[in-house]
Amino acid sequence: MKILGINASPRIKGNIDLLLDKVLQGAGSKGADTEKIILNKLKFVPCQECAKMTDDGGCLVDDDMQAVYKKIKEADAVVLASPVFFGSLSAQSKMMIDRFQCAWRAKYILKKDNGYKKIPGAFISVEGSRRKDFFENSKAIARNFFATINASYKYELFCPAIEAKGDILSHPAYLKKAFDLGAKLAT
Ligand SMILES: Cc1cc2nc3c(=O)[nH]c(=O)nc-3n(C[C@H](O)[C@H](O)[C@H](O)COP(=O)(O)O)c2cc1C
Repeated sequence: MKILGINASPRIKGNIDLLLDKVLQGAGSKGADTEKIILNKLKFVPCQECAKMTDDGGCLVDDDMQAVYKKIKEADAVVLASPVFFGSLSAQSKMMIDRFQCAWRAKYILKKDNGYKKIPGAFISVEGSRRKDFFENSKAIARNFFATINASYKYELFCPAIEAKGDILSHPAYLKKAFDLGAKLAT
């Protein structure tokens, strides 16, 4: 089983990065192959609303998103990991998600197979404050993304009051929840 983690934080060894590593460790403990993509390291443009597009759900813009599409298609489960930035997902998350507009069009407008198989998905997030509505905003977008790539929104983990780099390490209960989430996703 291949589990793909998508890190949408700009901070390496930040809270999302550490939490996602725990999820992937949990998945690995059940024998899954794991891979982590760090969106901030990729070179890709936001959706260009191309007039010319294919009808198979593919995107014609030739940049690092092509590798992301392929990895998601090959994955047996996907984890989207984003901090809350200004009450929503990070810009890195949103830039990636918008690039699935062609897949959304193929599935919902053209009612075609958009090339993504049915897999389980998990969404994990952290924020400095304790605002439930910020997690709910982020969750709504994550759910929409998962529906587009045919992933079921199976698990979530929200960690409030996590602000400075590495704060999550002082919260073993969250780290355990992340590990357990990964283990469940892999079984
Ligand atoms: C640009 C930016 C915007 C942020 N906006 C919010 C916000 O709206 N609400 C909140 O609770 N925390 C906000 N935060 C705090 C982050 O969610 C918090 O520091 C989180 O732990 C960062 O995760 P990371 O270490 O994985 O990057 C913001 C941080 C940044 C850098």
